[in-house]
Amino acid sequence: TEDGYDLWLRYRPMDKAARVQVRAAASSIVAFGPAAPAGSAPASPVQAAVAELQRGLGGLLGKEPPLAASVQDGAVVLATPASMPALSGMDLKLETLGREGYLLRSTRLQGHKVTLVAANSDIGLLYGSYALLRKIGIGAEGLAALDERSAPKLQLRVLNHWDNLDRTVERGYAGESIWNWWALPEVRDRRYVDYARANASLGINGTVLNNVNSKPDILTAPWIAKAAAVADSLRPYGIKVYLSARFSTPLELGATKTADPLDPAVAAWWKAKADEIYKSIPDFGGFLVKANSEGQPGPQDYHRSHADGANMLAKAVAPHKGVVMWRAFVYAHEKPDDRAKQAYSEFKPLDGTFDANVLVQVKNGAIDFQPREPAHPLFGAMPNTPLMMEFQITKEYLGYATHLAYLGTMYQETLGTDMHTGAGTVAQILEAGAQGSKLTGIAGVANIGSERNWSGSHFDQANWYAFGRLAWNPQADARALAREWAAQTFSAAPAAVAQVTDMMMMSREAVVNYMTPLGLHHLMGTGHHHGPAPWVANLERPDWNPVYYHRADKGGIGFDRTATGSNAVAQYAPGLARQYADPRSTPETMLLWFHHLPWDYKMASGRKLWEELLVRYDSGVAQVDDMRQRWARLKPLIDARRHEDVAVLLDKQYQEAVWWRDASIAYFQSVSGLALPAGVKAPG
Ligand code: GCU
Repeated sequence: TEDGYDLWLRYRPMDKAARVQVRAAASSIVAFGPAAPAGSAPASPVQAAVAELQRGLGGLLGKEPPLAASVQDGAVVLATPASMPALSGMDLKLETLGREGYLLRSTRLQGHKVTLVAANSDIGLLYGSYALLRKIGIGAEGLAALDERSAPKLQLRVLNHWDNLDRTVERGYAGESIWNWWALPEVRDRRYVDYARANASLGINGTVLNNVNSKPDILTAPWIAKAAAVADSLRPYGIKVYLSARFSTPLELGATKTADPLDPAVAAWWKAKADEIYKSIPDFGGFLVKANSEGQPGPQDYHRSHADGANMLAKAVAPHKGVVMWRAFVYAHEKPDDRAKQAYSEFKPLDGTFDANVLVQVKNGAIDFQPREPAHPLFGAMPNTPLMMEFQITKEYLGYATHLAYLGTMYQETLGTDMHTGAGTVAQILEAGAQGSKLTGIAGVANIGSERNWSGSHFDQANWYAFGRLAWNPQADARALAREWAAQTFSAAPAAVAQVTDMMMMSREAVVNYMTPLGLHHLMGTGHHHGPAPWVANLERPDWNPVYYHRADKGGIGFDRTATGSNAVAQYAPGLARQYADPRSTPETMLLWFHHLPWDYKMASGRKLWEELLVRYDSGVAQVDDMRQRWARLKPLIDARRHEDVAVLLDKQYQEAVWWRDASIAYFQSVSGLALPAGVKAPG
């Protein structure tokens, strides 16, 4: 049945003509090294590659290609210079592929016509095998003249699970955590292997198992053993395990009297802890840390800096080649400054003071995973510190798993922003890394849970997919990725691919329009962040009140972040700061993020701001209706079960879009006192 479990790795049979063509280039598999014993999970990347090729080609072609002992015509040959020294003499320029890249080429080998998957390492062969299957799966032509090379542009491509130790998931909308902590380490759910397959198919090479709001327990012996068991399942697929560490762990476990990072006993505890972890997980990736943010403990509790804290941990993992990913998502309501400014204010002065194995992990925007945010001003502002991007895949502020919102376009918007620092776009800044460092990376807050379809909805699988593919190549195109995903997930029929892709491409803008048009932000229901609540004004923490963000009153609406307001614009490089300082040169999509403007402010359309706002809310609702109708027309091309699953969600999304629009307009009207323009129907 089509229940979504197989994700984009469905490998449905191709039509006959295509099958004949592909079979000629993939009728057997040649690989080197010991084969996996029948029935057992792959124990190495090459075994994983062979298993996936057999499964994938078996599904696509209707017949599993056998493993051949020697090179023959029509074989898929997996080879590295180590496993097949002859490769070195073939001028394949493998040195350009790095450790993880791959080459796919139709060529002659030992006198036979083969499809060669070549790489410098076994993990490159696995990535190449997935790339080959993807190519075949989306119906790409020309296996006979294959010549393709690809290498990841970022080094650490990591999922962040916000999974708690009781299997609840913070901001998770796809059921319980897939980590069955109760049964681990003895019971290793087979699902871990399918998780690894899905991630490896995209090139994701790391995963942080637990929530950034971490508990000390995760670093105790029983939990280290559980994490080690997960690591064993993921290792053949090139995926390293990392853990979120709570800064006060030794203090809370009663092992030290303080968590002060400059206290030698504290540093010694972390060193011993790292040694202990590496005994069970020799390739442990390192720690992710949320410190001094939203009430989490951190070095500032002891009047030390983020760098003091990060470097102390970095020294503990450095002998094992581990890293520390230190989050820049810091803000506190005790600090009087605009929340959007706090990360930059705290981190920018620390540029160059972090140890070599520290990355600072920065959210895409300066508030918090809103449907639209300008790129975070820290990108390009810390040239001496490796910065990691943090995107959210789970849709905390975009309607959970019920609303269809393809995030590829949102990621691309941020990655494509020129920061005007001279270092190019955010993608280029991430790829270049820091002065004198090779460390680069990107993280995505996972949307994965134990629901059958993994992500809570079929379309949310696309966000996992797009994140992974962009992690490999941050300059990839969101539309191309949508097309790939649609073809593999639903149907490679061109009409289906085109329609699904169009729906995906409009979906996020629809959400922006009915939730937070024109640069509005953080208007969601308090705490749970679902549904509209622009009227909330009485929270204990003023920086969580929606009114703090929209500032609507009789005179106008929006957050003045120019020199007459919080001056957050000054955190951007001059070229960008100038653009954002003037409402006329600020993109309208971000207008009210940076400016407080009168209700009758004249928009580019000629309409007044108030009218424009109404138009945007309406168009958001109309776009959802459009998606609903497009989906209905797709019925003959999509399997019944998944078609129905999606249709039900689109109906709910439509109702909620109407709810957002009507509640928002009613509230803003109560503040502005303005009438609805003639021709606009009153909400309801
Ligand atoms: C958001 C989210 C929290 C999360 C935090 C973080 O504020 O609502 O649940 O802990 O981000 O990224 O640390």
